[in-house]
Amino acid sequence: MLRSLDDLEDISKIDAGNMLGAINRFPDFLVDAAHFSPLDVRSSLSPHNIVLMGMGGSASAADVLLDWLQDRITVPVSVVRDCALPRFVGPKTLFMAVSYSGETVETLAAFDEARKRRCITAAVGSGGRLQTICSRVKVPFLKVSSGLVPRAALSQMVGAGAVMLQSFGVVGDVRAGLLEAGRELIRIRGQLRAEVPLSRNRAKHVALRLEGRLPVIYCLQRMSSVARRAKNQFAENSKLVAKYDLLPEAGHNEVEAWQGRNPHMLPVLVHDSKESREESTVFRAFKAVLRKVGEVRPLEVRTGASSALGRLLGPVLFLDYVSVYLAFLRGVDPTPTFGIGEYRRLNSEMRR
Ligand code: F6R
Repeated sequence: MLRSLDDLEDISKIDAGNMLGAINRFPDFLVDAAHFSPLDVRSSLSPHNIVLMGMGGSASAADVLLDWLQDRITVPVSVVRDCALPRFVGPKTLFMAVSYSGETVETLAAFDEARKRRCITAAVGSGGRLQTICSRVKVPFLKVSSGLVPRAALSQMVGAGAVMLQSFGVVGDVRAGLLEAGRELIRIRGQLRAEVPLSRNRAKHVALRLEGRLPVIYCLQRMSSVARRAKNQFAENSKLVAKYDLLPEAGHNEVEAWQGRNPHMLPVLVHDSKESREESTVFRAFKAVLRKVGEVRPLEVRTGASSALGRLLGPVLFLDYVSVYLAFLRGVDPTPTFGIGEYRRLNSEMRR
């Protein structure tokens, strides 16, 4: 068992798959993605709507793209996590398959269906069958570097997805935004990496407070990508059930569930560094009720990132660190995902 989150030798024994190393590289991958070249897609059609389709860690990248770019895209954009595509998907849809491995059966099936419906198609990933099909049928494919587990490739996948959307002309140049966020994340990493002792490391502090508790993550609806990613990272890295909900909606229902003492759960409020007055009031009111009815003092996450993308990926990086520190406290190697592997195997086999 780990004696202290400052014991780097013990940590490296538990972290056999080096998830910490992958998280440390998260900002660098984003900086690298700022150097992707847009593709020459020669599409004369301007899409009427956009579907970003993926599962798991790749779908999280699609969520971040949506939260980041939706103000800059003039047509409706949806994230789909299912092989059954919505009825509106057709020839005027830009369908982008997002799959790091390129081997996810749900994504391959949806991609196939999108082609049957004559969508404008594109894909991002590190290879696999998705890349093979794209090169065979001449669908634009943007390749990220391989060798990671998909959830650790989030920043690259966000970068590649954004540059692909730029290639289709649905958004202007995204690369300065990727670079700026990358630089902000490098600074945030400097405060949270394992070499920074607990006395100065807020991610270690949050992990310690969460030990033995169910994390309940809250953030604003417009940052839902951050909360969902955190819930998934607690599952995949810390092997812990967590949940999330969104504000202000949670103030109208879920807040009621905090009545009385709930020592097994702890709320985590994830802030944006640029909240409007109204949004700050929502947080203050929600926090006050948690204290009053639930007698609980929530944890709060703030990062100083100020760019549009940094304000999403800063808290993502923070909570990624928390999820691995929590894994180490539990003596768990964060990298292997036996359950996901089994699900993927059975899901493929049972389809045959
Ligand atoms: C594993 C992980 C999973 C995968 C999911 C889909 O690290 O994050 O959630 O992302 O099984 O696989 P890909 O992303 O390869 O399409």
